[in-house]
Amino acid sequence: MIILGIETSCDDTGAGLVEDGRLLAHVARAQDVHAEYGGVVPELASRAHITLLPVVVQEALAKAGVALDRIDGVAATMGPGLVGSLLVGLEFAKGLSLARGVPFAGVNHVEAHLVSPALEHDLPYPFVGMVASGGHTEIYHVAEPGSYRRLGSTRDDAAGEAFDKVGKLLGLPYPGGPEVDRLARQGNAGAIPFPVARLGNETYDVSMSGLKTAVKLLVEKEPRPIPDARVRDIAASAERAIVVALLERLALTLERHPARALALAGGCACNTLLRAEATRLAASRGIPALFPSPPLCRDNGAMIAYAGWLALSRGLATPLDVSAVPNLDAFAAA
Ligand code: KG4
Ligand code: ZN
Repeated sequence: MIILGIETSCDDTGAGLVEDGRLLAHVARAQDVHAEYGGVVPELASRAHITLLPVVVQEALAKAGVALDRIDGVAATMGPGLVGSLLVGLEFAKGLSLARGVPFAGVNHVEAHLVSPALEHDLPYPFVGMVASGGHTEIYHVAEPGSYRRLGSTRDDAAGEAFDKVGKLLGLPYPGGPEVDRLARQGNAGAIPFPVARLGNETYDVSMSGLKTAVKLLVEKEPRPIPDARVRDIAASAERAIVVALLERLALTLERHPARALALAGGCACNTLLRAEATRLAASRGIPALFPSPPLCRDNGAMIAYAGWLALSRGLATPLDVSAVPNLDAFAAA
């Protein structure tokens, strides 16, 4: 079963193909129109999807060596995300499904991230998974395919937002996450004891806003321009505070829930320290830590194809009259 997946929920235009759950190819195009605004401009994002999507789909098909008439199903993100952006991919996919006479699957973007390590690894069930991106920071227990239980999320900023805000305060290019990661590698994470919010052992939630305020107050007192070595130390110290907050919750989750793997996904799963610490935590429990390769941590069509395959291979097609659901949240909170 070959599934084409389409992702247009935010500012990346993606298409990917999986065959029986195995990655064939994917192409993702980041939209550069947003850089000068320091954030995503929704109207510009949907316009860019309109021009990029047909090209990206053609490229993904060519890369996979699959002709359009060999597709057995089409999947697209139906939410959560920006409504104008979601509609571009969703209507494109529905049109393709109708034209080719193949079933359609409307996919939850967060679910797709959560299962995305399975594109490149054997992902055993049950597993504990965390999606950490610019819009989400959520911890799940996944007992079996399709059975997702959300245990915790952020009370305020997403982990990626925290990285991006630290980057912005340090005057780094947007998005700040990859830059903070790069500079932190050369800095001293012990230089500044930034606070890690501890919400107690009754919750799996995290909070990131205290760190942002602490970084802001510190940076305001620094001489201008902030010396490069100091920027590296602030980046390293802030990164450590973010990673410690996430790791503490993951450790608690693993203590209390049966898991044969720890799966991390979303843009922040590219982070060097997070990957290293998650690997260490998982190893201490005798299980693997599984991450997508960096391009598949980000928003991409392959993870949408995979989640679509999970649904369509179980006969769960989505009716073509569905619309985009910007605040889609199909998972029950614990
Ligand atoms: O999953 P993603 O590409 O898009 C969504 O938000 O859905 O995630 C983007 C987020 C941004 O906040 C970016 O700064 C962060 O992931 N990010 C990183 C790294 N690479 C991307 N954060 C920390 N370290 C990284 N290496
Ligand atoms: Zn995402």
